[in-house]
Amino acid sequence: MDIRNRIKTLTELINQANIDYHTKDQPTITDYQYDQYLKELRELEEAYPEYKEADSPTEKIGGLVLDGFEKVTHQVPMMSLSNVFNEEELRAFDDKVRKATTNYTYTSELKIDGLAVSLLYEKGLFKRAATRGNGVVGEDITQNVKTIKSLPLRLTEMIDIEVRGEIYMPHKSFKLANEDRMNAGEALFQNPRNAAAGTIRQLDSTIVAKRNLDLFVYTIVNATQYVNTQKDALEYLTHLGFKVNPHYAHLSDIDALIKQIESYDALRKTLSYDTDGVVIKVNEFNRYETIGYTAKFPKWATAYKFQAEQVETILKDITFQIGRTGVVTPVAELEPVFVSGTTVARATLHNEDYILAKDIRIGDAVVVHKAGEIIPEVLHVVKEKRTNQTPFMMINTCPVCGHELIRHEGEADYYCSNPECPGKNINSLIHFASRVAMDIDTLGEKVVEMLHELGYLNTIADIYRLKDYRDELVEIPGFGEKKVEKLLSAIETSKTQTLDRLLFGLGIKHVGAKVAKTLIKHYPTMDSLRQATAEDLLHIPEIGDMIAISIETYFSDPKKIELIEDLKNLGLNMTHEVVQAVAHEFNGKTIVLTGKLNLFSRDQATDIIEKLGGKVASSVSSKTDFVVAGEDAGSKLKKANELGIPVMDEQAFKEKIDGYN
Ligand code: IVH
Repeated sequence: MDIRNRIKTLTELINQANIDYHTKDQPTITDYQYDQYLKELRELEEAYPEYKEADSPTEKIGGLVLDGFEKVTHQVPMMSLSNVFNEEELRAFDDKVRKATTNYTYTSELKIDGLAVSLLYEKGLFKRAATRGNGVVGEDITQNVKTIKSLPLRLTEMIDIEVRGEIYMPHKSFKLANEDRMNAGEALFQNPRNAAAGTIRQLDSTIVAKRNLDLFVYTIVNATQYVNTQKDALEYLTHLGFKVNPHYAHLSDIDALIKQIESYDALRKTLSYDTDGVVIKVNEFNRYETIGYTAKFPKWATAYKFQAEQVETILKDITFQIGRTGVVTPVAELEPVFVSGTTVARATLHNEDYILAKDIRIGDAVVVHKAGEIIPEVLHVVKEKRTNQTPFMMINTCPVCGHELIRHEGEADYYCSNPECPGKNINSLIHFASRVAMDIDTLGEKVVEMLHELGYLNTIADIYRLKDYRDELVEIPGFGEKKVEKLLSAIETSKTQTLDRLLFGLGIKHVGAKVAKTLIKHYPTMDSLRQATAEDLLHIPEIGDMIAISIETYFSDPKKIELIEDLKNLGLNMTHEVVQAVAHEFNGKTIVLTGKLNLFSRDQATDIIEKLGGKVASSVSSKTDFVVAGEDAGSKLKKANELGIPVMDEQAFKEKIDGYN
């Protein structure tokens, strides 16, 4: 087989598959086949770089890391659009067009909320992509744009052409990108547009490739060389292999246009990407010169901006949440309402000044919306509906610790003055959920911090109240159905966690994991421990003065008692289950765990063995009764065999403990 031809064939096959899948949304080959082709092509290109085609799809995976972006001067400046916000303004726009020309029609296109890009093709091959920049000079983002799967690297015609479109981040990619950022401890992207703009300015194109940006193309530069109307331009762009947003329409006059805009407002809520309006263009290019331009934008086009959905509800209460830095933020507790796709029960009120300026009072009817389609916010009060509500007064003590709140000059925020304020100190929450304590999988440090910051977590008991906010949690950038499901189910499961872990998790001074285990053997219920005096506790050989006093002090604090009661009512296990250990063959036995376990973590296996009355030792000796050998077990397994100690694999271990764990 001729290598060069094979490379060419593979390039064509893969490029076509990319178009079918990403542009036309009609896959023609299986993922497996696709991966095979790509693998073969990559290997061949590596061995024969001289045969690599100019439109090779292997470029799509990124790889190049740049020092910075080159400047690009646009041959034809990238203009922006004027805005209209309602029907009246739109009709005024049409009046001006009608004064300038006759016999024209309109096209309407969704205004995609992303960032504008200019794409240059030479002889049908993709050459360069540039940002809008200041409209005249932009930046060369060729390498990053190449990673966009729906971008054609070769057009269906061998022409020189410059086209323009919008790079955007689909909702799905946005959620994934924020999940990654959350796991990496980075600040979250506020909305898909910011995420797309931030991503396109990445110097490492491999990262861009992973973010799954997409692209809609809507303009041909110097279009009259090819077509005479915007409608034909969109059709021609489709023919060339570009992804064109399918929801465009050709409309005979302003009335038809207004009807169309109404239908877009319903449509946009169902789309998997953000749109912030409708772009209206005069369809006939030969009218453009007569209608003319201002310095910034054409007079033959405008953008109709959608109103963010606004809904009226009742402000039931104003509560306060404390952030990690100690800032105290007022939060609106609302009668739940449906806004832009989700139920909203809380919204930000920003700070004291915001509330006073808008004279927002508890009991008021208020109008809420979602800023950037994401963050619920109270916009204003429906004053006509006010009865006798009292004006808002900012609190002057910390809602968590009661210390004085301080507002610095020139700042809008109040801070708690207590450096030890438990509201800021979320370490106790992190410890409680951690692997060594309650072991709430998926409620790691980052998630605790975020939920704390958002006001969902202040005390340990709040962890078990998260399920009441399920619908809101799903909406948090980086969360989503699946993650929330996992989180809530891990929290539910943790309710049955052993009493010693709960005790350790509470963070009682001097009560470590080991002391907790000792305590529950003598006080097998939370209540019995609560009643124990320091003197009682001192009867336990392993417990000294310091620990005994600390435990007594803890259980004399009304706040701690309240927490324990809360946890009890929320359904947490408060008793030490004394297993009928005699019945189990591990009772009184010394067991060594070695190798890699797949079905259990080391801690889990240890817990189970101990629950069954056994002991886990770290080295094999003649005193060892059993060895549990996981994958790749080494010297300990060898020693067990030498000493003739019974060995079981993980499966056998699992069978022995089935029904007991
Ligand atoms: S036409 C002179 N069409 O909106 C014509 N723009 O505020 C300029 N945009 O910079 C653009 N969707 O980033 C056009 N279907 C569409 C668009 C669109 C989104 C963006 C574009 C432009 C901005 C104008």
